[in-house]
Amino acid sequence: MGKQSHDENLSQRLYQALVDDYPDHVAGERPVHAVGIGATGYFVPSTVASKFSVAEQFEGPQVPVTVRFSNGSGSPVERDAELDVRGLATKFHLASGRTADLIMITLSVFFADTPDTFLGFAAAGDPKPVAAESWWAKLMDKLQLRPPATPPDPELPESGAVGVLAYANRHLAARAGTVAALMLVTPTSYARAKYHAIHTFKLTDANGVVRYARFAWEPVAGVHPPEAGEKLPDEYLQAELRARLQQAPARFVLRMSLAGQGDDLSNPARVWDTTRTRVVMGELFLTGLVEDQIADCERLSFNPTRVVPGFECSGDPVLEARGRAYEYSCNLRGGSGCPVGGDR
Ligand code: HEM
Repeated sequence: MGKQSHDENLSQRLYQALVDDYPDHVAGERPVHAVGIGATGYFVPSTVASKFSVAEQFEGPQVPVTVRFSNGSGSPVERDAELDVRGLATKFHLASGRTADLIMITLSVFFADTPDTFLGFAAAGDPKPVAAESWWAKLMDKLQLRPPATPPDPELPESGAVGVLAYANRHLAARAGTVAALMLVTPTSYARAKYHAIHTFKLTDANGVVRYARFAWEPVAGVHPPEAGEKLPDEYLQAELRARLQQAPARFVLRMSLAGQGDDLSNPARVWDTTRTRVVMGELFLTGLVEDQIADCERLSFNPTRVVPGFECSGDPVLEARGRAYEYSCNLRGGSGCPVGGDR
């Protein structure tokens, strides 16, 4: 099998694995992060950013951006109160006419170190009927001092959670990401959550010096989870963002952590030493919503491998596979700007 058909085949399998996790997935929509809302604004690089990277987005003085906030699920139903990953995909519109994307989620570490682990994890997450715990299992919980299992929710008779936990139990690589997912909180606002790009990117400065770094968007308004016991409505995140942007821009600081000795540069399932040097690379100002949400946001392609010289992909196999899977998915849903190199 040639490389091209091998890639096509892997993209198709990755795509299908996601579709299988969401039985109400709608053809023509994204297979994950299906519910989203677009905003526009600009990015202001910090005064030190261009010392680390010659990438155009760090030249300034201001770079126009389009962003898409999203819920992680592939279901088209907006269930904002659900414990889920949230996404913030950013497209920098560069002075040269090219674009560069930076995709982040509220998880700080991934649950797969290779495309194969991802396929295994996604298959384990296929929804299965949630059975009530048997009397025997309840007794065993008591004897082994385990907390009792949560009773099935009549509104959600199927779940992939049990399968995913069992998979993480058997696969070391999936553990850090699964623990991080269990610690997620539902944000009260898309603008009050912290987002991580997870993968490592390769930065080159004007002298040709190469550094490796990971990136995060930190909300200037601070991270704000709900109060203990606060009941959130099913749909509030989009209305909250609309109201917020009418008052003032939503702001995020772009923070970069530089790799140090021993940090894994190609494995998104490995955490780095938390004492690494951190640098502020700029600030994002979101000033309003995208006017035509369908044409200029929902149809748009964001792709983590749409990068420019000075800010490039590391040798991360998950990142590489994502690049082609996003292109495949974008083509399938009739999106715009799907080919990664198409807007160059
Ligand atoms: C092998 C691992 C992964 C696969 C196969 C995968 C696959 C996909 C696909 C097919 C899409 C839809 C693309 C489109 O139709 O335009 C998507 C969207 C998305 N993914 Fe992933 N993904 C993976 C890992 C990740 C990671 C590590 C992150 C975070 C750093 C992430 C964040 C997102 C976000 C935020 C979106 C929505 C982007 C938008 O608003 O257009 N994904 N993913």
